[in-house]
Amino acid sequence: MHPRLDDDLIHLPELLDTVRAQAVRLLTGLDSRPVAQAPAEHRPAPLPADGAGLREAMEEFARRWEPGFSAGAGPRYLGFVTGGATPASLAGDWLTGTLDQNPMSGLDSSAPDLERETVAWLRELFGLSAEHEGTFVSGATMSNFAGLATAREWLGEQRGVSAAEQGVAALGPVHVLSGSPHSSIGKALSMLGLGRSAIRTVDLLPGRESVDVARLAEALESLDGAPAIVVANAGTVNTGDFDDLRAVAALRERHPFWLHVDAAFGAFAALSPEHAHLTDGLDAADSVCVDLHKWLNVPYDSAVQFTRRRDLQVRVFQNSAAYLGPMGDRPDPVHLTPENSRRLRALPAWFTLAAYGRDGHAEIVRRDIALATRLGERIAAMPAYRLLAPVRLNVVCFTLASAPERVGELAAAVTGSGEAFLTQTVHDGVPALRAAFSNWRTTEADVEQVARTLERLAL
Ligand SMILES: Cc1ncc(COP(=O)(O)O)c(C=O)c1O
Repeated sequence: MHPRLDDDLIHLPELLDTVRAQAVRLLTGLDSRPVAQAPAEHRPAPLPADGAGLREAMEEFARRWEPGFSAGAGPRYLGFVTGGATPASLAGDWLTGTLDQNPMSGLDSSAPDLERETVAWLRELFGLSAEHEGTFVSGATMSNFAGLATAREWLGEQRGVSAAEQGVAALGPVHVLSGSPHSSIGKALSMLGLGRSAIRTVDLLPGRESVDVARLAEALESLDGAPAIVVANAGTVNTGDFDDLRAVAALRERHPFWLHVDAAFGAFAALSPEHAHLTDGLDAADSVCVDLHKWLNVPYDSAVQFTRRRDLQVRVFQNSAAYLGPMGDRPDPVHLTPENSRRLRALPAWFTLAAYGRDGHAEIVRRDIALATRLGERIAAMPAYRLLAPVRLNVVCFTLASAPERVGELAAAVTGSGEAFLTQTVHDGVPALRAAFSNWRTTEADVEQVARTLERLAL
C-alpha cells in the first residue's frame, strides 16, 4: 500500500474526528461567512506526484478553496431555488459515502429496498397514489429528462412504434405544449433527440405564468387528434406560479396527450394546508418531477421521478445483461434511469424523513412560505422597489421601481455585501431579482436582514 494511504488507514479514527471538527466549524460559521462572493482567480495547482496525506489535504483545502465557497447551505442564500441540508440528511449523506453502496441491483444488498421505502414515503408526502412509481435521479433536470423519455415511448406506443428500439426518427413530428416551461425541459428534449424546437409555448393567463387552459385546448385541437406531450408547471422559477393541473388533466377527455408535471419545488405546496390546493390534480399526471435538494433540504444531488407507466420507463432505460441477472417484475434501479452505477442517493432523504417526519418538513415549508410573504410585504412597502407578482408560494420577484435596467448592479451589490444572495431574471420582459425561500434554517431575523440590505442598497 502507498505509505500515505497506509498512514491514513492507521490513523483513520483521529482523521475522521478532524474532518468532523472541520464540518462543525463550517456549519457553526455559516451565519457569519459571506453568503456569496464573486469568485477570485485561482491558478490551478499541479497534480501532486506523491500526495500529502489526508491531514495536509484538509489544510490545503481550508487554505486555498474553502474561503471562496458560498454559504449556500445557509439561511440567506435565496438565489435559484436552493435548499440546505438538515442535520439528519447530512448524517445520511456522510453514511452514504461511508457505506459506498451501489443500489442499482438487488443482487447483493437491501439498498434498493431502502430506495423503494423512501420513494413510498415521498409519494405519500406529495399526495400521489400508489400507481405512481418513483426512482431517484440527480436533480429536477434528470427527473424531467426521465419523465419525458417515458413520454416519448408513450408517443411511440400511440403510433405503433418504439423510439427505444427504432430510434426517434420512427416517431415523426413531436409536439410538446407548455405555458412556462423551465429551461431544463428544452435541455431534456435536446438530449432525447426530440429537439428544443418541439416546444410550442402556449399563451399564459394575463399577468401570470400559468397556462391559459382555453388556449391549451385550442392548441391541442389544432393537432387534429395527433398524440402530444403537455408539460404542466407546478411552481415556476420566476414567480412560483402554478398551472391549473386539474383543468389541464381534464383536457385528456378530448385530446390524447401525456401529461408531465414539473413540480420541482411546487410539489411541496402539498404540505401547507393553505397552499395544498395548488397541487390538486398532480396525481392525475403520467409523470411528475420533484426535486429533493431544493425544499426537502437534502444535500446535492437528489430528486425523484414518478410515473404511472413504469413499463414504458423500463423499455427506455433497461440494461439487461447476463451478469446483472434477470430483470423480474420489480426492476432494479439499473433499469430505470440513465445511470447504471451510482451512490445510494435515497439515504439522506430517508434520514431526514425518519428524523423529522411529515410534520417536521411541513413546518419548514410553511415557515418558508410565511417568510417569503413577509419579504414581499417589506419590499412592497419600499418606494424604491416594485413587486412584479404576488407572492404565491416561496418566490419573491421584484424590480427597481425607477430603474429596472439597473438590477444587475443591485444584484452585484447585494452579493458584494455578503449579507444575502439573490438571482437575476427577466419576468414578462422586465429585468428583475428573485428571492426564493427553501432553506430550513431561515428565520424572521434573516428576512429582516435581507430587507434592510435591500433598503440600504436601493438604486
Ligand atoms: C421548476 C424547475 N424545474 C427544474 C429545475 C432544474 O433543477 P435542477 O437544477 O435540480 O436540475 C428547477 C431549478 O430551479 C426548477 O425550478
